[in-house]
Amino acid sequence: MTNKTTHALELHDVTKRHGVGDTAVTALDRVSLSIPRGTFTAVMGPSGSGKSTLLHCAAGLDRPDSGSVVLDGHELTDADETALTRLRRERMGFVFQSFNLVPTLTVAQNVALPLEFAGRRVDGRQVRGLLARLGLGDRLDHRPAELSGGQQQRVAIARAMLSRPAVVFADEPTGALDTQAARDVLRILREAVDASGQTIVMVTHDPVAGAYADAVVFFSDGRIVDGMTRPDPASVAARMARLSASVRQSGSGPSAHVGQGPDALSAHVGQGGNVPSTHLGHGGSASSAQVRQGGDVR
Ligand SMILES: Nc1ncnc2c1ncn2[C@@H]1O[C@H](COP(=O)(O)OP(=O)(O)OP(=O)(O)O)[C@@H](O)[C@H]1O
Ligand SMILES: [Mg+2]
Repeated sequence: MTNKTTHALELHDVTKRHGVGDTAVTALDRVSLSIPRGTFTAVMGPSGSGKSTLLHCAAGLDRPDSGSVVLDGHELTDADETALTRLRRERMGFVFQSFNLVPTLTVAQNVALPLEFAGRRVDGRQVRGLLARLGLGDRLDHRPAELSGGQQQRVAIARAMLSRPAVVFADEPTGALDTQAARDVLRILREAVDASGQTIVMVTHDPVAGAYADAVVFFSDGRIVDGMTRPDPASVAARMARLSASVRQSGSGPSAHVGQGPDALSAHVGQGGNVPSTHLGHGGSASSAQVRQGGDVR
């Protein structure tokens, strides 16, 4: 099986610097990562470790200085702005901490908007069905301001998923929600992966959110420094605490890295018959993580 069919997203040796000269920051430092289709990956790490930059480069919103990004079989690093815009509209969905709904449009209109931008036919029944499944069947004609935060985020998720994109990128999707609303949103994301085979890449600071994923990728100082499969909240929290402590102790720099080195991480992703794998690599020392799915549906 080729990578085109196995992986929704691949980053190869991606480096991204922000700024120039003495103030330049290496936000991503030779990051390699492969995300199998139909999996839920959480990206975690201390503030400033490069998580949002990773998402932006993966979605073609930001151009890497070097390396390559392949989304749904398409090389983004060669694409011009028009092609990138089309790829984003047709193959990616986005969920942000701040919902980003259009205040003057109804719930149903917000959900249909990306398809309309893409010039594609909107199936009203599909929109209503999706919103009903997300518990918003009686809110179709409401404006975003008439909804709770959790309801608004569920609208944003419906909007991101209506076109069944190759990858949904979520940057802190539960960051602005209370515990119960956050749990509802995470359960919906989990179910989209389990029931519909959606691929999700989610940045989060919250170990409970991270534990909803199949695999967690840990960043520090622009590098992937660790990975965890079948995460549970306590293990994720412990790993995050170690990472934050090492960043505090050493400032930025290679010594802040945990779990790097020749001993590769490895596990196995078992999904039905085929066995795709998430490879986490940094520079020469590639490591790989794989996740077994099923069983522990939350
Ligand atoms: N546009 C920019 N110009 C200059 N530096 C930037 C820019 N964007 C990000 N950076 C720097 O790049 C590094 C990585 O930033 P990034 O936003 O990717 O971190 P993050 O892991 O998402 O952090 P947080 O958890 O706080 O959202 C940081 O040092 C940040 O200050
Ligand atoms: Mg960020």
